[in-house]
Amino acid sequence: MSRHANHTELLQELTAIGQEHLYAFYDRLAPNEKSELDRQIASMDWPLLAELIRTVVLNPQPLAVPENIEPAPYFQYAPHEPELREKYRQARAIGEQLLRKNQVAAFVVAGGQGSRLGWDGPKGTFPATPVKNKPLFQCFAEYLLAMQSRFNCAIPFYIMTSTANHQPTVDFWAQHHYFGLPESQIRFFSQDMLPAVSLDGKVLLETPGSLALSPNGHGGSLLALYKSGALADMQKRGITQISYFQVDNPIVRCVDPLFLGLHEMEHSDMSSKILPKVASNEKLGNVCLVNGKMTVIEYSDLPEVLAEQRTADGQLRFRAGSIALHAIRCDFVQRLNDRGFALPYHRAEKKVPCVDFATGRTIKPEKPNAIKMETFVFDALPLASSSIVYETDRIDEFAPIKNAQGVDSIESSRQITTLRNSRWLEPAGINIPRQADGTPDCTIEIAASFALYPEDVKAKAAQVPPINPGDQVYLQ
Ligand code: UTP
Repeated sequence: MSRHANHTELLQELTAIGQEHLYAFYDRLAPNEKSELDRQIASMDWPLLAELIRTVVLNPQPLAVPENIEPAPYFQYAPHEPELREKYRQARAIGEQLLRKNQVAAFVVAGGQGSRLGWDGPKGTFPATPVKNKPLFQCFAEYLLAMQSRFNCAIPFYIMTSTANHQPTVDFWAQHHYFGLPESQIRFFSQDMLPAVSLDGKVLLETPGSLALSPNGHGGSLLALYKSGALADMQKRGITQISYFQVDNPIVRCVDPLFLGLHEMEHSDMSSKILPKVASNEKLGNVCLVNGKMTVIEYSDLPEVLAEQRTADGQLRFRAGSIALHAIRCDFVQRLNDRGFALPYHRAEKKVPCVDFATGRTIKPEKPNAIKMETFVFDALPLASSSIVYETDRIDEFAPIKNAQGVDSIESSRQITTLRNSRWLEPAGINIPRQADGTPDCTIEIAASFALYPEDVKAKAAQVPPINPGDQVYLQ
């Protein structure tokens, strides 16, 4: 649809696809609200939406389970074999060289709604660390600052938002003076939005004058990088590799020389970090080979008989769980966009507050009333010419905050952070008080300026005060 279409043309276009109810309250709107609704409607790709409503909302097909599924091979965490250790040594050197030559960008996808956490604001502003309550964004900024000073390099940082959280995100960074990163090194851009659709295929309004929009999934990042000019900006700066991560993990290695080095050494287009699953039903996507192509199969889509299979040594055969950390070549993102690409849309039934078309009043539904459609970044893996997988350590790098309570909550994330830090401190001779069940009886936060790796702690052991039961310890 033309961006310049007038109201009558827009109404015709909507009528042709049975969505004219979106103008049900138009006559009641103020002139500025009318033009805002027209602008929103003109910005949507209605042919795509009509197709998605037909295929994803009204006629969802059960997922065809591919026949030829094999576990994905992966590079083990901390292997013992001398050849692999030598390979990792070389890979780390290559990754460090990429950093020293300013060829790596950090990229966080922060456009999600974070509805499970229920935090009033962009998720990156959530207080995450166990002692100082640093917001997630600050954790990433401090990590990047420490890496920059260690490798004497610049690591430009790209932050994807959605139109719903863009301004609060930009304002937050500005208020905090970019947490010490040079402003010129940070670039914000927004992903596209899509409207939610009722279970019977009607696009929903959030208010009488606006669509019920939500971001189009983290898969939208691969298009948004290109459309926003962020990719061109990276290329102008000489960047060749993108280190992709999610906004919810305060202990993520935002850029990891070893992972980036393996990815570069193996000429991979898009690589993934995984964790061995602790149970067949653990809610991590399964990294597999499907007809030889790297593919993530959602945990709920892998047939149970495969999910339960074990190898001779008792491990799960399909154990590579995706944790949504990727290394992506800029050339790959460019190639996808040059050729044109379409990631599949996944459907999610959600409770979406919306306008009742009969009364014009807002409804706050108690059960799912709508379908949201999203693309996922890992669906680009099969489009890569080559792709490697690297195993990381759960405690060392994975403390996601997704829920307000329970699994993957702020509480579990803080516990994992303290556990990780106690594991870093103990080999350096620091005594960690323990509870009867063996968990640390203290809270420990280590700033990236103090240590990026356990080895760094050893050199600074003298700076660590004695830790007593119940202490809150902050090392910077
Ligand atoms: P989640 O799957 O945790 O989704 O996103 P969410 O929207 O943040 O949270 P819920 O499901 O509403 O509770 C994983 C990562 O992908 C980003 C999120 O910001 C997070 O870093 N994401 C997700 C986007 O950037 N855009 C999206 O459209 C969806």
